[in-house]
Amino acid sequence: MSKNAKELAAQIEAIAGEAPVQIGLILGSGLGHIAKEVDGVAIPYSDLPGFPHAGVSGHNPNLVIGDLEGVRVAVFGGRAHYYESGRGDAMRLPLEVLKELGADTMIATNAAGSMRTDMPTGSIMCLSDHINFSGLNPLIGEPTDARFVPMKDAYDPEVRAGLRAAADAAKVEMADGVYAWYSGPSFETPAEIKAIAMLGADAVGMSTVPEVIVARFLGLKTAAISTITNMAAGMSVESISHEHTKAMAPIGAAKLEKVLRGYLRGIY
Ligand code: HPA
Repeated sequence: MSKNAKELAAQIEAIAGEAPVQIGLILGSGLGHIAKEVDGVAIPYSDLPGFPHAGVSGHNPNLVIGDLEGVRVAVFGGRAHYYESGRGDAMRLPLEVLKELGADTMIATNAAGSMRTDMPTGSIMCLSDHINFSGLNPLIGEPTDARFVPMKDAYDPEVRAGLRAAADAAKVEMADGVYAWYSGPSFETPAEIKAIAMLGADAVGMSTVPEVIVARFLGLKTAAISTITNMAAGMSVESISHEHTKAMAPIGAAKLEKVLRGYLRGIY
């Protein structure tokens, strides 16, 4: 663990208290509402040296530590994307801090485009696996043998089963599917969408995969849920834009919040 992560964890504990965090949540575009529901303290990323600036609109760059459904959570209201800086490991320090704060699990959320007609705008998808379509890896340059991270079951079967049980209990329809990471920031072409659908992806987005790789590297259990904000390029006449993503995210976000709350209530 980097010295910086240990120092930041100590700084955060001095503000938020020393009780260990159990779960970290990373919030995607337009999915910030749940951070406001946490009974705790919000620390702006700008107070945490080395944290990303998370300059994408639709993100709220605060770290919120506190109680949600009886679980001590750390909610990352903003994420850094590869396309902002060209750095694939832009979320490594926040994830190291999460681990240092005591968490054993990281659940990421994101907005994504769908390649499946049975998964329309407004639906949610629990990631069963991913395809790294970017060719990038956040562990490039990591000097230790720990870099050879196994990625089978990267999306933890037990956490996924807990999320599934929570979705069923809340009567929320949640698909299972494979997420493809496309670097962005431009959206995909219809030909690229056709290609990744043929390769086995169900949804596409510009985040999450590097965070999952880093989280597995750190030994965190991981899971992720997408909210579908649009059909992917070429799949419908719907417009694809960041504005559209932000406008559509709240539809799936309400479902996502029910699933996350139910999961937290059920798990501890
Ligand atoms: N492609 C990539 N990222 C996205 C999309 C998409 O269609 N929708 C929301 N994020």
